Amino acid sequence: MNVQPGHYPILEAKQLWRTFSGKHSFFRRKQQGLHALQGVDLSVQAGEVLGVVGESGCGKSTLARLLVGLDRPSRGDVYFNNTPIHRPDSQHMLGMYDKENKYSLAKSLQYVFQDAVSALNPRKTVAMSLQEPMQYLLGLTRQRSEARLKQLMVQVKLPYELLQRYPHELSGGQAQRVGIARALAADPKVLVLDEPVSALDVSVQAQVLNVLLELKQTHKLTYVFISHDLSVVEKISQRVSVMYFGRVVEQGPVNDVFQQPCHPYTRLLLASIPRLDQSLDMSGMDSSTELPDPFNPPKGCAFAPRCSRAKPTCFQKQPTLSTMPGEQHTAACHFPHLS
Ligand SMILES: Nc1ncnc2c1ncn2[C@@H]1O[C@H](COP(=O)(O)OP(=O)(O)OP(=O)(O)O)[C@@H](O)[C@H]1O
Ligand SMILES: [Mg+2]
Repeated sequence: MNVQPGHYPILEAKQLWRTFSGKHSFFRRKQQGLHALQGVDLSVQAGEVLGVVGESGCGKSTLARLLVGLDRPSRGDVYFNNTPIHRPDSQHMLGMYDKENKYSLAKSLQYVFQDAVSALNPRKTVAMSLQEPMQYLLGLTRQRSEARLKQLMVQVKLPYELLQRYPHELSGGQAQRVGIARALAADPKVLVLDEPVSALDVSVQAQVLNVLLELKQTHKLTYVFISHDLSVVEKISQRVSVMYFGRVVEQGPVNDVFQQPCHPYTRLLLASIPRLDQSLDMSGMDSSTELPDPFNPPKGCAFAPRCSRAKPTCFQKQPTLSTMPGEQHTAACHFPHLS
């Protein structure tokens, strides 16, 4: 079946919270938690690429790990094909499945790690790393997995000779393609790619992006593509979610969000990359301020201290995502830019 983007939501996050147990304050006895995600709602349509952007520390990797079940939310849940993957009573996300289907979720949702080289076991050759998911998740025999190994190397455009190498013997681009091949080995439906090209130089970035786009076509995949590089996200995604301090502050079709950004933070992000076709008035916007303290999140909008449009309401009341002009375009701002 040729799945069209927007056909149905294959992966959803509903009110996803993640608080890490944190530091003991000197004055307070109670341990303060680090609020990494604060009620993220997200919907990924089958066959699309959803870009997730935001500055360092805003919670992108935390979200990615929850989406594939590598970590559990403090509240809320992730739904794969309308089925919750984290149940409060299960010790592990796979606990929800009976023995027969035990690995079906791990097969369907795969993660490409932010740091490709350290995500691979340094004591295992590329071949060994790729065979693991085939044996454990697909139950392939050694012989059958060897045939599939070669197929995977062709798909990610790597020479067979690399199969016998160890991770430290690979270049960054090669390691990233091995990471993609490993994620593909179990024949998944959704790939969550955490900054897959951020550490690569521009020409290698282009090669890896082309491989990803080709694979998406041939395998009818759905991607969640996390990056802080807006130009890459603009090239590869159909829709984009902009995150700030553990929340989604704006989302919608890439063209709407990038051409007519409504949230002041999105405008700040876009203004920070040089673009010939757009000029935005960023006067009065303080781009140097850091994110608020995640141990003590502000009551109102986390962006208010950096925002020139902020009014007293912004410091008091948390804005929620509401509809902006344009189809499926939402932003969480009390005073959005509407023109
Ligand atoms: N296991 C953990 N324990 C405690 N705090 C954590 C843990 N993982 C992440 N954090 C904190 O959660 C917040 C979000 O981190 P996260 O790695 O998700 O950010 P990010 O957006 O992926 O950043 P980057 O762009 O630098 O990769 C940060 O304040 C981070 O210090
Ligand atoms: Mg990260």
